[in-house]
Amino acid sequence: MVAVHGSGDDSLARSADLALSSVLPGGEIPGMDEDLFKRWVDLLERRTGIVVPSTRRSFLLTNLRGRMREAGYTSFETYYIDLQTGPKAAVEWATLVDRLTIHQTHFFRHQPSYDYIEKTWLPARTAALSWNGSIHAWSVGCATGEEAYSLAMVIDRGLGTVPGRSYFGITATDVSQPALAAGREGSYAVARRSEIPDEFAHRYVKLVDDQSFAIDERLRRRVAFSVFNLLDLGRAPVKEIDLIFCQNVMIYFPRERRLEMLAGFARLLKPGGVMILGPGEVTQWNYPGLERVSNRQVLAYRRLDDPRPSLDSV
Ligand SMILES: C[S@@+](CC[C@H](N)C(=O)[O-])C[C@H]1O[C@@H](n2cnc3c(N)ncnc32)[C@H](O)[C@@H]1O
Repeated sequence: MVAVHGSGDDSLARSADLALSSVLPGGEIPGMDEDLFKRWVDLLERRTGIVVPSTRRSFLLTNLRGRMREAGYTSFETYYIDLQTGPKAAVEWATLVDRLTIHQTHFFRHQPSYDYIEKTWLPARTAALSWNGSIHAWSVGCATGEEAYSLAMVIDRGLGTVPGRSYFGITATDVSQPALAAGREGSYAVARRSEIPDEFAHRYVKLVDDQSFAIDERLRRRVAFSVFNLLDLGRAPVKEIDLIFCQNVMIYFPRERRLEMLAGFARLLKPGGVMILGPGEVTQWNYPGLERVSNRQVLAYRRLDDPRPSLDSV
């Protein structure tokens, strides 16, 4: 399931739905019968992983009505059909998904994870004989970009202390186009600057005016934003990743889906690479060739280095 907005008293919403069982004056939108509700739930789950239990019926209806009013629809049925086959289906679908997903995020949201990258994993990675001089990181479910830029700051500073030439790039993906567009812009409300530790803020952000600040252009060029639905992990736009960072995304999916995703991530990791999840986001999971990182504050799995060829095989 995907992160979903809103909550509400379902019994109230149900009676409201019944009361609105026909087209009402003033452009009101009628209710939705059980069969159509099931079709909506099925469509959302199939295409996005969003799971809407019947207890969240009011959430779904409120958000659908909001978007339908903006787009000029008065019938759930017509909107349902147009969303799949109409001339603007793809654009409308992206707009609706954005409505239904939560993009709440922060810079340096889970500080111990960033500390682990900078102080433990990166020094070991760059010291490994097998290291090829570059780091490719993936921020999965990046929302409006704060997570990807936090990673960029930590990696840029960390690589600055490594002798010789090095390079890094970050792929930042999300299912929401508007969230990605905000991330690409790299401009944030000035109140959010306090989320960034001072030593990074001084170096990587600049005030634009008294309302906003911008991420340093050099850092922005290291982050590529791209739309990607986690349900399509088999067609991920990345491979051979050094660092997969996925926090506060999987919690919205059922456990079986999470396990499929973890296995997909594991297959994309390079030897010596690491995947970092949010604390508590998965329990009792293991995968061949991965070891749980021993850090009590961080939930991370490292792919073991490929075994060196034995003398017998040389
Ligand atoms: C709560 S935010 C977390 C943002 C960031 N990772 C963090 O920890 O601050 C969850 C993000 O996951 C995205 N998301 C939800 N379902 C997704 C899916 N099936 N594929 C890709 N992204 C998804 C949402 O659009 C949203 O931006």
